[in-house]
Amino acid sequence: MRIDVVTIFPDYLAPLSLSLVGKARTAGIVDLRVHDLRDWTTDRHRTVDDTPFGGGAGMVMRPDIWGAALDELLGEDSHLLLPTPSGASLTQRRSESIAREDEHLVIACGRYEGIDARVAAHYADRGVRVSEFSLGDYVLNGGEVAALVLIESVVRLLPGVVGNPHSLVEESHGEAGLLEYPVYTKPPVWREAEVPPVLLSGHHGKVERWRRDQALARTAERRPDLLRRLDPAELDKKDRATLSELGWTVGEHGPVLPSPEAVAD
Ligand code: ADE
Repeated sequence: MRIDVVTIFPDYLAPLSLSLVGKARTAGIVDLRVHDLRDWTTDRHRTVDDTPFGGGAGMVMRPDIWGAALDELLGEDSHLLLPTPSGASLTQRRSESIAREDEHLVIACGRYEGIDARVAAHYADRGVRVSEFSLGDYVLNGGEVAALVLIESVVRLLPGVVGNPHSLVEESHGEAGLLEYPVYTKPPVWREAEVPPVLLSGHHGKVERWRRDQALARTAERRPDLLRRLDPAELDKKDRATLSELGWTVGEHGPVLPSPEAVAD
């Protein structure tokens, strides 16, 4: 996969030389290049922004500068990604489809009040795949951290990046739609806290059941919104018993329904 990131702070992307993403680059799995938007400016001050039409606080990034940069970087099969708090939420499913389908990502990191809205519209009109995405319901100072997050979440899904692909299967936000169960390692007793005995039992079936129950309980407590979205067909008798102990009921056809007193979200 080829990834181009455009930013006015190229140093912000330095961590992309580290850890798994750094290794994926060295291994040639991902060809990642970071560009300074100011390289496409033409004035002495290397200006990238101006005041907003219609008034208001802050500055807006100029479409002509972004247009010059993106015309040069976008190709036939590029996916243009714009991090913005007003975008659609980035999810594991989105990262999976990007990892599976896209050959070339161009990530345009906005700063200030954002990039002139004509930029995204223009490239969409020209037939480029354009996605405005948000990390979550909070505001960052710019898109660089969101670009780091997107790249890490996508690159770790590319074949050959994570040593044991099995570790991708059971993690939180995996296909089961549940948060991951808690994990433990040595020592078996730490500051008087013991590892749950079932994990030392060597009984594979019981371990699996315990982990599933823990995942259900965690999801019920921390992310009832995810639990409600579970497909009832995926819930066996034991799942239903566990959920019932937690105060939830599973409807015949619809999603998982909590009894009113069970949920406080
Ligand atoms: N830029 C500023 N805030 C952001 C957010 N929450 N997600 C993505 N990009 C952003």
